[in-house]
Amino acid sequence: MLNNKTILITGGTGSFGNHFVEYVLKNYKPKKVIIYSRDEYKQFIMAEKFKDYKSILRFFIGDVRDKERFERALNGVDYVIHAAAMKQVPTCEYNPIEAVKTNINGAMNIIDGVLNTQSVKKVVALSTDKAVNPINLYGGTKLVSDKLFTAANAYVGDRDLSFSVVRYGNVAGSRGSVIPFFKNIVDNGVTELPITDFRMTRFWIDLNQGVELVIKALKEAKGGETFISKIPSFKITDLAQAMLPDCKLKEVGIREGEKLHEIMITKEDSMTTYEYEKHYIIYPQYSWWDNNKIIEGGKRVEAEFEYMSGNNHEWISIQQLKERLINI
Ligand SMILES: NC(=O)c1ccc[n+]([C@@H]2O[C@H](COP(=O)([O-])OP(=O)(O)OC[C@H]3O[C@@H](n4cnc5c(N)ncnc54)[C@H](OP(=O)(O)O)[C@@H]3O)[C@@H](O)[C@H]2O)c1
Repeated sequence: MLNNKTILITGGTGSFGNHFVEYVLKNYKPKKVIIYSRDEYKQFIMAEKFKDYKSILRFFIGDVRDKERFERALNGVDYVIHAAAMKQVPTCEYNPIEAVKTNINGAMNIIDGVLNTQSVKKVVALSTDKAVNPINLYGGTKLVSDKLFTAANAYVGDRDLSFSVVRYGNVAGSRGSVIPFFKNIVDNGVTELPITDFRMTRFWIDLNQGVELVIKALKEAKGGETFISKIPSFKITDLAQAMLPDCKLKEVGIREGEKLHEIMITKEDSMTTYEYEKHYIIYPQYSWWDNNKIIEGGKRVEAEFEYMSGNNHEWISIQQLKERLINI
């Protein structure tokens, strides 16, 4: 479905963007892929990396805070993936207005820009577990962004256009996450690893699974869905043992803005959540939303269902973690 289509990705030079572009170029024959981001150096590096695809890739310098510029980039675009964000929790806490401008005003500009242009058929915005019951500003801004994209479907009228959201948790090995943190101290020869809380759990998702979920959303979305992958969980203490076998563990206390478990679907969301073979979809709870848009093949989850890394059915053992870490 991406063959001969023009795709624009905001934040296309980031970790997700790089992997998405690689995946799309390998598996489809798009007409054009437009990378929309601010830093020319990151675009230069990416252009070098994908130099064999010069005729397909376009590097557009632009800020999601700048609606006019974004609208200019939208000319002839079929699909928009919105990945640009400020996403470091401490940075967002210290620079709250900047986080609001990028994550909330930016989302508004994407929606308005798309509504003001005729060509776009689908918009998929990336979300995070931190948007669920948020306890920090990053999560708060992403919750607002999710709500904006879901509500945007009320404004499409008769147009063949949908807005949907894809939500996942920390990508294994991503910058600032626990794997590179442990790796760095293990490489320095320690025998003890710090654990903020021994009860802590996380979901395991890799970039490929994130990209595949976005492609699925592009293919299936009718508008208003929040797509969530079914993925296994692991204990942070097991991860430490996998990275440094027989190491001592020291509990150092939970950090500001950190949660014990990642949560993707709350009990309140469960009222409109459907389970599919490999994913869940949360549907909107708005009165204007049309139930005929529920995608076939799913079944409603039980009342009070909650999808959280701490109460998952599928877990990764220490041995399985060791095997997965080889590819990180
Ligand atoms: N990484 C994870 O573990 C994870 C987990 C769950 C959800 N997510 C979500 O996935 C999305 C992508 O994350 P990522 O890991 O790829 O992030 P990333 O590696 O930090 O990349 C962010 C991208 O956004 C661009 N950007 C930042 N501010 C911008 C602005 N104002 N206007 C235009 N572009 C801007 C950056 O390029 P410039 O600086 O050059 O503009 C960069 O290309 C985000 O929405 C994030 O919330 C990520």
